[in-house]
Amino acid sequence: MKILVTGGAGYIGVHTILALVNEGYIPIVVDNLSNSSIEGIRRIEKLKNTTIKTYICDIRDAEYLSQIFSENDIQGVIHLAGLKAVGESCSDPISYYDNNVSGTLVLLKTMEKLGVANLIFSSSATVYGNPKTLPIKEDAKLFPTNPYGQSKLMIEKICQDLANKTKLASKNAWKIALLRYFNPIGADKSGVVGEDPKGTPNNVMPYIAQVASGKLERLSIFGNDYPTKDGTGIRDYIHVMDLAEGHVAALRWVLSIKPLISECRAINLGTGSGTSVLELLSIFEKETGVKVPYVYSLRRSGDIASCFADPSLAHSLLGWKASRNMAQMVSDTWRWQEQNPSGYGE
Ligand code: NAD
Ligand code: UFG
Repeated sequence: MKILVTGGAGYIGVHTILALVNEGYIPIVVDNLSNSSIEGIRRIEKLKNTTIKTYICDIRDAEYLSQIFSENDIQGVIHLAGLKAVGESCSDPISYYDNNVSGTLVLLKTMEKLGVANLIFSSSATVYGNPKTLPIKEDAKLFPTNPYGQSKLMIEKICQDLANKTKLASKNAWKIALLRYFNPIGADKSGVVGEDPKGTPNNVMPYIAQVASGKLERLSIFGNDYPTKDGTGIRDYIHVMDLAEGHVAALRWVLSIKPLISECRAINLGTGSGTSVLELLSIFEKETGVKVPYVYSLRRSGDIASCFADPSLAHSLLGWKASRNMAQMVSDTWRWQEQNPSGYGE
């Protein structure tokens, strides 16, 4: 079964491709390579001894996208393509709404035109904003605090409207899973693919890995005065391969829904436990034996104290549960970092 993966060359994309191949699906990649390189896909081809059809295409290019759908018998779409840097979204909101929202509209129009109605969308825990209660359930208030998060929420609403439109019997009833990711980290245990941020990393895990490898001098911990156990921010870190397997579980669920029934469900993908920055550092040092120098600095604007999921819906609906622990997340990150000090290289 052929599954189109937009953004398939990116960090979550390559791991999702791997999970799809592991489960016998045929992924077809569409990516404009604006934040990735083709090397990750090439490495999976080598690892799995297969070829992965890859189109260098911007999802806003309606003509090319239609052609790709027409050339391939696509049964479903995993839509990961988009811009994801919170800070950049505040300084350049138009690019975020254009890429994420307009890009998704082009994709949805193409899918509707060609009768493909099975969609998995990568949303984010950022749609919850600063949560009132923890752990966060899917019915919590949605209150994104930046244009990136707004763009994710807008797409969720568009998807919901599409599914409502076809609530009555229709030949191509939409079936949509809106996956709200918490904090994906780590890499496949092979060490051949991983996170390769351009420039200085924004996220804590790749930052720690680059400090440990000597590329960066020290970690700045953004705030030690949060109302948490040690004053540093708490997040629900999830192994990227667990996340990738969550996409396959969501795909199976979507494909199992009767043709005339439409569905659109938001589903958290997290582990359900929170880890502070200091705890993450200490697990990293224990697993790798490498000391990571750090300093405390001011809180990062827009950050929240704590965020972790109630992942029970994913378990009951998709039969999926994260299985890899923090030790695996950091040791897999470190294997990738050590084997690929310059990422995929350019
Ligand atoms: P990434 O930047 O590594 O991957 C995104 C991919 O999409 C890149 O390969 C990029 O080249 C491609 N892309 C961007 N705009 C495109 C366009 N218009 N047309 C075609 N391709 C385009 O990011 P990632 O971490 O793999 O994230 C994947 C998705 O998951 C994103 O939508 C992101 O918002 C979402 N997400 C990520 C995180 C995270 O922490 N990594 C958390 C929550 C949600
Ligand atoms: N942090 C530091 N120093 C750094 C980077 C981060 O102390 O150099 C801290 C942050 O303050 C926070 C924690 O580490 O307490 C995690 O920060 P990340 O930047 O790794 O992750 P965020 O939770 O801020 O955001 C990430 C993605 C968002 C996504 C969100 C929820 O960047 O796009 O997870 O999925 F929306």
